[in-house]
Amino acid sequence: MRVRSLGPSCIEATVVGLGTWAIGGWLWGGTDAERSIDAIRAGIDAGITLIDTAPAYGLGLAEELVGKAMEGRREELVIASKCGLVWDTDQGTFHYPEYDKKLHRHLGRESVKTEVEQSLKRLKIDCIDLMQTHWQDETTPIEETMGALLELKEEGKIRAIGASNATAAHMEEYRRAGALDVDQEKYSMIDRQCEEENLPYCQKYNIAFLAYSPLAMGLLTGKIGPDREFTGDDIRKDLPRFSKENREKTAALLNAMKPIAGQYNLTISQLVIAWTVEQPGVTHALVGARNPQQAEENAHAAEVELEKDDVQTISGLIEKAQIL
Ligand SMILES: NC(=O)c1ccc[n+]([C@@H]2O[C@H](COP(=O)([O-])OP(=O)(O)OC[C@H]3O[C@@H](n4cnc5c(N)ncnc54)[C@H](OP(=O)(O)O)[C@@H]3O)[C@@H](O)[C@H]2O)c1
Repeated sequence: MRVRSLGPSCIEATVVGLGTWAIGGWLWGGTDAERSIDAIRAGIDAGITLIDTAPAYGLGLAEELVGKAMEGRREELVIASKCGLVWDTDQGTFHYPEYDKKLHRHLGRESVKTEVEQSLKRLKIDCIDLMQTHWQDETTPIEETMGALLELKEEGKIRAIGASNATAAHMEEYRRAGALDVDQEKYSMIDRQCEEENLPYCQKYNIAFLAYSPLAMGLLTGKIGPDREFTGDDIRKDLPRFSKENREKTAALLNAMKPIAGQYNLTISQLVIAWTVEQPGVTHALVGARNPQQAEENAHAAEVELEKDDVQTISGLIEKAQIL
């Protein structure tokens, strides 16, 4: 398994991490607790050391499931969680007004400290390896949030600090106010906006870049065919990205990548993940999995190192494909 450092923290974690948003169920059409625990364990058994979770994933549920799944294995793992999306306050700003008015972006000092205590309880551990601000709260000065995170570090409750859904300007403020080990952002073959600002910034200051949704919520697995329907509150139901036309275009791109996948004996998902962690500045890919098969398949991508020529060939195919 390839490992890389979480920026200046020097905490080493596998280049492929297991993401647990979907496992929380909310906005993903529900979840199955036993299958989710088995998925996390399958990822760990396959050698994954990095697990990314958040209180907002299923409003506490994903953290609880991670806590159960890692019983007896904590020492092998790097646990990343988040703070700043809370559902017990009117402070800050609404996060998802279209889905649920309860969730607020709030990164005030007391709230951050309380959130970390709650996460430690759900996860059943005494220290979270990486604490990331989930979404940026424009109503709280970053200095205040950083003050709380530094106190938590001092108290031994967290080991490293990250920001998510942040700009380079946010990162600059975090660095000035204290320390920043990680930037976690949306990045995939078809989500490349971070190449403009975040990735160069992270490279310049040795900040780890954790790419989230690297499979574009499953679209890039090659397994979401034209007939797959999303049910319940699954947000993919209404995303233009999952339209019939876009699925067809994606299928054509993934088919064109098959000969390269074949050369390395990889599945399409594994090739997509392996390409992602070869992009300049991208240090880790956080990949969601809902069952043990997916978790095991994705984990093996951490063993692969693609040749530069193949990375370039794939990049050329992506450019031509024009996928939403
Ligand atoms: N910081 C943030 O704001 C933020 C935002 C989004 C995500 N994240 C993090 O990044 C992680 C990954 O992102 P994501 O879950 O949005 O998207 P993703 O990793 O791109 O896609 C996950 C989905 O892809 C499908 N999948 C995964 N592996 C598969 C395989 N081998 N074969 C077939 N299908 C497979 C599953 O879909 P089905 O459910 O259809 O089986 C799974 O739920 C999250 O879990 C979370 O930890 C963070």
